[in-house]
Amino acid sequence: MKKVVLAYSGGLDTSVAVAWLRETTGAEVITLTVDVGGGSLREGVERRALSAGASRAYVIDARERFVTGFCWPSLQANALYQGVYPLATALARPLIAQLLVEIAQREGADAVAHGCTGKGNDQVRFDVAVHALDPSLEVVAPMRVGMGLSRDQEIDYALARGIEVPVTRGFSYSIDQNLWGRSIETGPLEDPWVAPPSDVYAWTVDPSRAPAVPAEVTIGFVGGLPVSLDGRDLSPVEVVDTLSALAGGHGVGRIDHVEDRLIGIKSREVYEAPAAAVLHVAHRALEGLTLTREQLRFHRLVADELAQATYDGLWFSALHRDLRAYVASAQRVVSGEVRVRLDHGQANVVGRRSDLSLYDRALATYDAEDAFDHAAAVGFIRIWGLPLRTEAARQGSAWAWTEPLVDELPVRVADATPADVAG
Ligand code: ARG
Repeated sequence: MKKVVLAYSGGLDTSVAVAWLRETTGAEVITLTVDVGGGSLREGVERRALSAGASRAYVIDARERFVTGFCWPSLQANALYQGVYPLATALARPLIAQLLVEIAQREGADAVAHGCTGKGNDQVRFDVAVHALDPSLEVVAPMRVGMGLSRDQEIDYALARGIEVPVTRGFSYSIDQNLWGRSIETGPLEDPWVAPPSDVYAWTVDPSRAPAVPAEVTIGFVGGLPVSLDGRDLSPVEVVDTLSALAGGHGVGRIDHVEDRLIGIKSREVYEAPAAAVLHVAHRALEGLTLTREQLRFHRLVADELAQATYDGLWFSALHRDLRAYVASAQRVVSGEVRVRLDHGQANVVGRRSDLSLYDRALATYDAEDAFDHAAAVGFIRIWGLPLRTEAARQGSAWAWTEPLVDELPVRVADATPADVAG
């Protein structure tokens, strides 16, 4: 290995990794910092990278592309890992991996590196994505191959080399953040019975301390993508940043999850994802109005598959690509507006409308304008129930395996008297 491009957050681990890579391998180290929003870009990262021994430091603003190329397809698919995690960390990995590959190719580097440990999902995502794009690149993870220093040792290591340390001793969480969400683990969270201490949260207020008056926001969608808030057209990054601040201010978007990592470990994770929480709820509501029952059912399967593949680091797989293409196509009618009320930690849909709505009031109403053909239901039900009547005729009725109920339940009987009949 002669030249390596390191994914550099500017935090303690990767700052130490710059020096460690140079000292133990003798390779030239170039750092790449990707701004994925949400405060992920630290002050003075270039300066810190160079002071740690990098020969060149890249910083790339990928916020817009992160939203449009990664968060949006995931939102369109309703992809939530294990039904709850909006995948913020998992979605940023393939983007960062792709940029690592591109910078490595531009610099003529023979390797890329990242600061992941050998226990998490992120190492898998980086390694697999890099090799899907460029199998010739070596991937090095110092934390996996000998850099195993404790937090305090890392601080000492950095101080001994004059590397400015961006942290304080004793701080106990591992945090990853981008504009789609904030992921917090370790420290007191490692006991799944312990309620998350209030200092794990940075983007959301305690729901019990949220403003007394709920807020309402109208989200405009075109083709399954949010394009406006309260009638104002916004860029993708603005939509997410604006909703994040608004919903976070009402305590929306806290997730406390014991999740199954790809490498077989259960782990307790806390997430803050106010914008994702609101957008997911709103998007599903609009799908409910504009897609058929069969599409909605199929989408639940696709959502699970896409979430799993994203989580498992398979963004650049053929399956993932083809599922995204299906979802994008299925979104062509998911246009309209959704009203969401933000109230003490809850994001509740209170209204939805669309020019392409499949909801037909004339069919749904019980009023006089009812246009539904009630008599036609009889024929429909005869055909619908035909297989069960055939079963009963050929194989015996469901009585054969059904417990009688009337003898088991308290029954009250009232008989009509002649007076009742006369009245
Ligand atoms: N468990 C989440 C995931 O695998 C988040 C990982 C967050 N990483 C961190 N250093 N806190 O996507």
